[in-house]
Amino acid sequence: MASVVPSAEPTFVQGFPFGVDLVPGKDYFYCSCGLSKNQPFCDGSHKGTGLSPVKFKVDEAKKYFLCGCKATDSAPFCDGTHKKEKGLRKYNEFLLKKNGELQAHLTAAKKSSSILNEFSIVGVSVGVLAGGDIY
Ligand code: FES
Repeated sequence: MASVVPSAEPTFVQGFPFGVDLVPGKDYFYCSCGLSKNQPFCDGSHKGTGLSPVKFKVDEAKKYFLCGCKATDSAPFCDGTHKKEKGLRKYNEFLLKKNGELQAHLTAAKKSSSILNEFSIVGVSVGVLAGGDIY
């Protein structure tokens, strides 16, 4: 189970809204923390974050646009913030974080590759010392 760091700041999900078909007479729970695997709806992942889902209903059956950047001032609905400085700043922070994760993966991959190369060199050296053929 992943640990959740308490935060009042929602996690960015995507830089545009989710278009979803909703119907009247039903309670919906919008994910406000950004951790749900069932975006844009709550799956309980907010526990420990200090954030809560937004319960809402709709009046008519149609497609609604629910915020994906988690920066709207009109939750659960998109209010265009994703195109403004506040939303773009969150997107930029998300990209920088992903870039950092990618760099860490590349560094780890280079280390493993380097270790594998050292094992290969040692293996060839042992083979030569033992008089074996090198293929
Ligand atoms: S997706 Fe968040 S305001 Fe539009």
